[in-house]
Amino acid sequence: MPIDKKFLNLFIKVTEKAAIGASKFIGKKDKIAADKGAVDPMRRELNKINMKGTVVIGEGEMDEAPMLYIGEKLGTLNGPDFDIAVDPLEGTKFTANGQPNAFSVLAISEKDCLLSAPDTYMEKIVIGSNLPKNLMDVDYGVEKNIKLLSEAKNKKISDLNACVLKRPRHEKIIRELEKMSVNINYITDGDIAGALSVIGDNPKNDIYYSTGGGPEGVIVAAALSCYGGQIQGRLVLDEDEKVRAKKLGIKDFNKKYNIDDMVKGDVIFCATGVTSGDIANGVKDLGNEFEVNTFVLHKSQNIIKSVKNIYNK
Ligand code: FBP
Repeated sequence: MPIDKKFLNLFIKVTEKAAIGASKFIGKKDKIAADKGAVDPMRRELNKINMKGTVVIGEGEMDEAPMLYIGEKLGTLNGPDFDIAVDPLEGTKFTANGQPNAFSVLAISEKDCLLSAPDTYMEKIVIGSNLPKNLMDVDYGVEKNIKLLSEAKNKKISDLNACVLKRPRHEKIIRELEKMSVNINYITDGDIAGALSVIGDNPKNDIYYSTGGGPEGVIVAAALSCYGGQIQGRLVLDEDEKVRAKKLGIKDFNKKYNIDDMVKGDVIFCATGVTSGDIANGVKDLGNEFEVNTFVLHKSQNIIKSVKNIYNK
């Protein structure tokens, strides 16, 4: 059953309060305190909502307070069952260093409709909307994927823009993109914003091609399922992580997850800026009030909007 639209403002308030909490730590060089600054109000607000919420994507896998851990029950337990994916503060380093593109984000789905993935890495390829279904494949390699994308978009390879998370593990991807003369836009962190840079009316990038967090991958899939666009991801698991994945019900450790494997049914997605960035403006301290900006999606209602709200201090 679609998620009742009365929940939308309640979930917006959750990321707004979390963003305000984190904003108190902007530039304070303490990413753990900044994360906790977001986690506590996020949990508090979620617990006020009349729902039976279960965290399926969180910051940890056991009862590891203060994290919002996978399996944690949230809400008054009086109301519909929801799966909840949270990243209370995406961009802990950005916040600690006072850099752009930090935000608080969550995605809500109907029960059993979001992939529950452990907090491990995920290989990811993300492309925008209006392209042939399942065009990309992590096993094709950079050259074939880029050629397919260039044909499908009817764009010269040298006119394609790829977003890559700057990490030594991406040396091979970078080398191949460079060999093909694809323009590379690097990000230093924050691969949710990087991945979502392929969508919109005038997207900055044609493809996101990197290995980042698995939880971030599922959150991106939730947003794309409302907005259009495609992701393929494959978890990167060492032996210990395979044990953790198995506990979450994952049997095929090499599975390539397309968007429909990660997200089903109705979805709400909210991302509130902590520092200003591509997704939303950051929290503005107006003296006696905070101004907050949230990018909001609700699939069944066809809602794609940005909202601004004011909170008294
Ligand atoms: P945090 O905000 O939780 O620190 O994550 C930032 C981030 O850049 C994610 O966007 C990305 O998925 C992940 O870290 C990449 O991890 P790593 O820094 O280990 O390469």
